[in-house]
Amino acid sequence: MKIIVVEDYQEMSKKAAEILIKKVHENPSAVLGLATGSTPVGLYNELIEDRQKNGTSYKDIRTVNLDEYIGLPKEDKNSYFTFMCEHLFKPLEIPNDHTHIPKGNTTDHLEECDRYEKIIESLGQVDLQILGIGSNGHIGFNEPGSSFTGNTHIIDLKESTRQANARFFESIDDVPKQAITMGVGTIMKSREILLLASGKAKAEAIRGTIHGEITEELPASILQTHPNVTIIVDKEAYSLCE
Ligand code: PGA
Repeated sequence: MKIIVVEDYQEMSKKAAEILIKKVHENPSAVLGLATGSTPVGLYNELIEDRQKNGTSYKDIRTVNLDEYIGLPKEDKNSYFTFMCEHLFKPLEIPNDHTHIPKGNTTDHLEECDRYEKIIESLGQVDLQILGIGSNGHIGFNEPGSSFTGNTHIIDLKESTRQANARFFESIDDVPKQAITMGVGTIMKSREILLLASGKAKAEAIRGTIHGEITEELPASILQTHPNVTIIVDKEAYSLCE
């Protein structure tokens, strides 16, 4: 694991953008694994700014997202489809058919899991997977207890995850109880992984990810065994590692 400790969220976002932009320049048709949540928003804004200033093109990039809520139609304001369109796909003008996100409102969620896993396989390897981390150590929506070898599957969200994400919804009752997520096994097949973490709320999870026992109770701990992981972490998130 390569650990880069930075001052704050802004520096984390800039460093992550440097790595991602370099990857896109080296391979304009790279497969990027993308994440939602508050963590990658700064990174995405940096990519948009770079594109405006330097004209980096994303027209040949392919993307796969980690997860989607079950029960929300894609046009819902809280769907990860909407999030990605607003924060990244539209501003970077990535062609629609190059972007992939699980569908959260099909009639057969298991079939959707199979379909999504096959899409990822058909793209070959994910060249660079961006990850945030939950304060309980989840990656994607792989909550504690998720199998290290799992493929795309349906997950029951932990109450703590629903509480953490309730800030985007009108009330906690509106937060979906399930999601479709790439499995830890799917994530681990990526060629390279970039995990971002900012703030005190992530400090315990980051300590376990870097120094803890490798256990399904802390899904991100499996990253210790991946050959090409970089963690960009700000001082607060790194505070329990010193
Ligand atoms: P956050 O979520 O970026 O909104 O903190 C991260 C996660 O739950 O994976």
